[in-house]
Amino acid sequence: MIIRTLLITTTLLFAGSAAASAVKGDTANGKKVFESDVDTKGNKVAVCTGCHGVGNTEKLPDGSAMPQENPVLAGQYADYLSKALHDYKSKKRAHIGMQGNASRLSDKEIADVSVYLGSLKSKVHDLSEHENEK
Ligand code: HEC
Repeated sequence: MIIRTLLITTTLLFAGSAAASAVKGDTANGKKVFESDVDTKGNKVAVCTGCHGVGNTEKLPDGSAMPQENPVLAGQYADYLSKALHDYKSKKRAHIGMQGNASRLSDKEIADVSVYLGSLKSKVHDLSEHENEK
């Protein structure tokens, strides 16, 4: 019985470490990148929160509801977000708008913003609720 418990515990520990994000980044800087309306050169750019919402609120900076055709990023896996942004940047993933947004980010900024968004608590629980709103 003790051995069985140990085995289960060990399995859970390994499962936990396997699920840990491979992307390492600076959460505080990621928040800055996500909320900034200027790039590192001081050029005016489209702010990420203007389409993806502030933090995990699903609200745009002016307090209005985030359009449902824009993906919710808060609480998504950092590895997935990082891959998506690299794929837009290299034009492997098609979307003119996001290709432009991602191309202004350095590799470090992609890591930071992905880790920041991954650290937020998702408000999305049951998508069938969203479906019922139609
Ligand atoms: C003008 C609105 C707009 C702005 C500004 C914007 N996005 Fe997006 N973003 C979108 C839309 C729409 C999509 C879905 C595109 C598609 O179909 O691939 C998307 C997709 C993404 C995805 C992929 C999500 C997924 O589930 O696959 C990530 C990650 C992302 N955006 C991050 C960012 C970041 C970081 C910024 C700021 C640098 C940003 N976006 C700025 C509208 C925007």
